[in-house]
Amino acid sequence: MKPDEVKKVGVIGCGIMGSGIVEVCAKSGAEVTFVEIDDQRVEQGQARIDKSLAKAVERGKLSEDDRTGLMASIAGTTAIEELSESDLVIEAITEDLEAKLRVFRDLDRLTRDEVVLATNTSSLPIIQMATATGRPDKVVGMHFFNPPPVMKLLELIRSLTTSEETLEFARGMGERLGKTTVVAKDRAGFIVNYLLTYYLNSAVRMLDEEFATKEDIDTAVKLGLGHPMGPFELLDLIGLDTMMAVANTLYEEFKDPDVAPPALARRMVQAGFLGRKTGKGFYEYSK
Ligand code: 3HC
Repeated sequence: MKPDEVKKVGVIGCGIMGSGIVEVCAKSGAEVTFVEIDDQRVEQGQARIDKSLAKAVERGKLSEDDRTGLMASIAGTTAIEELSESDLVIEAITEDLEAKLRVFRDLDRLTRDEVVLATNTSSLPIIQMATATGRPDKVVGMHFFNPPPVMKLLELIRSLTTSEETLEFARGMGERLGKTTVVAKDRAGFIVNYLLTYYLNSAVRMLDEEFATKEDIDTAVKLGLGHPMGPFELLDLIGLDTMMAVANTLYEEFKDPDVAPPALARRMVQAGFLGRKTGKGFYEYSK
């Protein structure tokens, strides 16, 4: 199948990343069905999409009519079986390998044999998801960035079994979604999260060692390096739990102590200070 023939896209998980991926796919003209684990999460996912589309209208990126059309092309469900007609499925659940493997086994059973199954994992091995299916050549990493409707990059990850045809399909799909694609090898962190983890871990250690205040570190990075956000603002946006899961995966792969989650980040996750999603991380947010 060619990327422009994809009519129905399935997205598993409608959290921060999943909801953004649903939005991006719908904007490309596809009918999108997302799957969540219970009704409350379906509602929360839908609310996230509505909020982002409202923001896009507010920023002049989308017309009211287009927003209405997009909302009509998106449906949420708790039944993964509803993805049986999908032409492409993108998995975007939490970074839990066992849960992802269960999803890939289900998708392999439910979808047509030729359908590409993609994962938005931020660091887990694509090959493990590929070999959980009977179509390891059709499994590929499609790693989006937060917030997906705004960030222009899509990292494609080719595992040892991903075919050239699947990679080309993913590249074409990226283009259709309006993203610039880069290709990375199936190594923990791929390109961006490998670099990002060293940087964010260093910032957390700097703060813990009282080099400077978090506000000053954020200001220094924004004004001295031209980043749109400082490291603590970014950690709060991504979620400390997500970033810690990425750091743990990198540590498992490379055994470099600099990449392991710093003590302060671990304590904050234990305290539930995960960032914007819990209303408190390095900074506080009104929900
Ligand atoms: N839909 C469409 N466009 C939107 C939008 C939406 N919902 N929200 C914002 N935009 C557009 C704005 O219109 C603006 O476009 P313009 O430059 O053409 O005017 C642009 O996005 C930026 O918006 P703002 O300056 O108003 O800033 P916001 O505060 O709304 O958004 C941000 C800020 C886009 C999050 C910006 O601060 C940023 O780029 N931060 C860095 C994010 C980053 O580094 N993400 C990567 C994280 S790593 C990751 O995701 C990997 C994972 O695996 C951990």
